[in-house]
Amino acid sequence: MRARKGRLLTDQSIETVAQAKGLYVARVTWVHHWTAELFSFRVERPQSFRFQSGEFVMIGLVGPDGRPVMRAYSLASPAWEEHLEFFSVKVADGALTSRLQHLEVGDSILLGRKPTGTLMVDALEPGERLIMVGTGTGLAPFLSVLRDPDTHERFAHIVVSHTVRHQQELAYRAFLEEEIRTDEIFGELLRDRFTYYPTVTRGEFHRKGRITDRIREGLFRDDLGLAIEARATSRFMICGSIAFNKEMVDILSGWGLTEGTRSHPGQYVVERAFVS
Ligand code: A2P
Repeated sequence: MRARKGRLLTDQSIETVAQAKGLYVARVTWVHHWTAELFSFRVERPQSFRFQSGEFVMIGLVGPDGRPVMRAYSLASPAWEEHLEFFSVKVADGALTSRLQHLEVGDSILLGRKPTGTLMVDALEPGERLIMVGTGTGLAPFLSVLRDPDTHERFAHIVVSHTVRHQQELAYRAFLEEEIRTDEIFGELLRDRFTYYPTVTRGEFHRKGRITDRIREGLFRDDLGLAIEARATSRFMICGSIAFNKEMVDILSGWGLTEGTRSHPGQYVVERAFVS
């Protein structure tokens, strides 16, 4: 029986709900709290669970009424990894995250069977560089795409831009700044080909402001040492709030770039960062 403060139902009941709804049950193997509002966790990957890097899937818990409470979450781990990783906000009165934030190793979650999404490298035309631009937990799918060998076959340069309000919210900063460079698999591959571009909109940081403003003002291009012509050879992935996505699409479509799909690849793809 796991019923800490009545938050989680019994293991047996999650199994019953999963069976009835055609969902997986996945056991939590790691939890990391970045701040009071942000955390990440990993679950064991069911053997038959397949996805493409950049996709999202429904995950959830059994609600007090015995029904599943499910939300869409981007997979933050690449498709080849043995575990599945998720990056989440904690919302005090959020139907799911108010409970999800109390997960501990050994707990179980419900996991959907049909990952899907638009942030696919194969929805992008070939190009010189892949620029992934996200806010908040919109970073998650980029952590997956960044570590997929397919991405490196297609693009010579990769940029991950992450904008948050306060610098403590730059989750995965140490990983993106340092650890990935010494990573057994990707260290060598990424050394001179990867740029991490964090920006902070409130409080102290060495690079301040919304990424949308930095792009419009030419600061982003200057920082990366790119000529204006680099627009034509760049491909973009966008993931953040609705307002952010809209602003980015306005900028990119203003440059004459078009949105891609798997059947009609283009120069950018967009996905909303779901749980907020
Ligand atoms: P700001 O502090 O200026 O609102 P949120 O936590 O609200 O989702 O925001 C995450 C980050 O995204 C914040 O740094 C925020 O900047 C920024 N942001 C929010 N809306 C937009 C937008 N429309 N365009 C660019 N950046 C945005």
